[in-house]
Amino acid sequence: MPNSQNYDVLIIGSGGAGLTLALKLAEHSMRIAVLSKFALTAGSTYYAQGGISAVFGADDSIESHIEDTLDAGAGLCDLDIVRLTVTHGKSSIDWLREQGVVFTEEQTTSGESKLHLNREGGHSHRRIVHTADATGKAVSLSLIERAREHANIELFEQHNVVELITRTQEAEKRILGAYVLDSTKQQVRTIAARVVVLATGGASKAYLYSTNPQSATGDGIALAWRAGCRISNMEFMQFHPTCLYHPQAHSFLISEAVRGEGGKLILPDGSPFMQDFDPREELAPRDIVARAIDHEMKKRGIDCVYLDISHKSEAFIREHFPTIYQQCLEFNIDISKQPIPVVPAAHYTCGGVLTDSYARTDIVNLYAIGEVACTGLHGANRMASNSLLECLVFAERASEDILQKFPGILPIPEIPDWDESKVGDSDEEVVVSHNWDELRRFMWDYVGIVRTDKRLRRAMNRVELLKKEIAEYYSNFRVTSDLLELRNLVIVAELIIRCAQQRKESRGLHYTLDYPETDNSKSAQNTVLTPCPTERH
Ligand code: FAD
Ligand code: SIN
Repeated sequence: MPNSQNYDVLIIGSGGAGLTLALKLAEHSMRIAVLSKFALTAGSTYYAQGGISAVFGADDSIESHIEDTLDAGAGLCDLDIVRLTVTHGKSSIDWLREQGVVFTEEQTTSGESKLHLNREGGHSHRRIVHTADATGKAVSLSLIERAREHANIELFEQHNVVELITRTQEAEKRILGAYVLDSTKQQVRTIAARVVVLATGGASKAYLYSTNPQSATGDGIALAWRAGCRISNMEFMQFHPTCLYHPQAHSFLISEAVRGEGGKLILPDGSPFMQDFDPREELAPRDIVARAIDHEMKKRGIDCVYLDISHKSEAFIREHFPTIYQQCLEFNIDISKQPIPVVPAAHYTCGGVLTDSYARTDIVNLYAIGEVACTGLHGANRMASNSLLECLVFAERASEDILQKFPGILPIPEIPDWDESKVGDSDEEVVVSHNWDELRRFMWDYVGIVRTDKRLRRAMNRVELLKKEIAEYYSNFRVTSDLLELRNLVIVAELIIRCAQQRKESRGLHYTLDYPETDNSKSAQNTVLTPCPTERH
């Protein structure tokens, strides 16, 4: 790639959302660049296990999927967005199958094949379409293969966006492209584009313990905030109840589908406890299950609880959960014979860049799709397997809007190159790694599953100190991938804390001991933060 390039559409992110959009637009002769800051498979999509929710069951209905989503979302979902998303479930699955994704099937009594459907927390029916327990890998690899075949799509690995480029004309802020660090050459390039799409995934790496891959540092949220977009509902960080607890296991998820097949959560003495927290027990929505585990761990001073699926046969477990079975076996845990040690870990960012129903942000021709966006689908708590569905549906919606307005979008004016004349090479990389660790630890300790005003204040004090230190570092030294991520993470941390401080009640994923009840005296409100030019950096 030369130092400066022009594209019709620049898509930042090669997960389910970004690649779906690229493939939809590529059919229409557009020149598209797709960036990933690491490998193309670096995002959360590749690691998705349980599957994609869609109504296929004979006894299921769109209305039931809507109702379950609204219930999990604790009063904050946007009904129109929920309906729009859910009604596109079947067509989204059909499209993925056309791209070559093979989903797990089962034989009916009459000998025909049909999709096998998983069950997960919050869903009143079996409605999760899946590829065994590695759905994300199947989706990711098929989409990458299709994208590689397309002449109109150029894929760039190890390209990390430093900053979005915008210009204000006639009181309208418009996107022009992005400055991008090519990490293989340590060089910042300028990529101009008539449309830019953030598909950068979530921000769960703001926490010490997370199920997410390294890429999930909330870059898109921080980039959009610095560029002037509103950010919403960041207090609703979702903690998955069951991450494998083992000193050598980094971020390995034990899918909710294990509970869907009858897995029981138990204490070290073997006794179940979910019956004390919710009549749906193990299949209650995630916020309830994660809080119950957190409560038991703190009350009893234990390091983990256990998830037991050993009542199922080894053959069943190997067929339904081959990845989980194998991974646990590598840690000497035979899940067909013994319970799995599990703890909650940061998993999903329900908030993000505020968008409308076509994925449009506050900046003209800048879109946000997938986990980076806050569309109104998830409200205060995302229901399991609704995320991949959202990626697919909103990629489609963005493609419709881009195609419709593309002929009228002005060509890109001249953009100045990235200026490195006033910075040098860092002589203290340790500052970056130390601040990374510190940030993720205080977010875990003070802004986790259970919050208080005092803990949030403590966390904010630390964010303010880190922000100053990082800003100074950023203005003196050449950018590196780690520094860019840290600079974004500290903004994301601040946005999470600010949203949490504004919500004076407990709702969905936001639980605070200072306001333990949901405020039902007025209608539920989203938390919306508007950037003010002086405080963004
Ligand atoms: P991602 O797939 O995360 O992709 C983000 C992309 O953006 C990557 O290519 C990354 O390199 C790129 N990127 C980020 N920052 C930059 C930057 N600065 N410059 C350039 N590129 C950048 N959801 C479900 O619905 N069903 C499931 O079964 C399920 N299981 C899950 C299991 C695990 C372990 C995890 C972690 C998540 C799971 N989720 C599941 C959630 C779901 O996988 C994600 O929400 C979804 O895949 C996000 O897709 P995305 O395209 O928005 O982002
Ligand atoms: C899981 O398989 O438990 C993850 C599902 C999700 O996050 O939607």
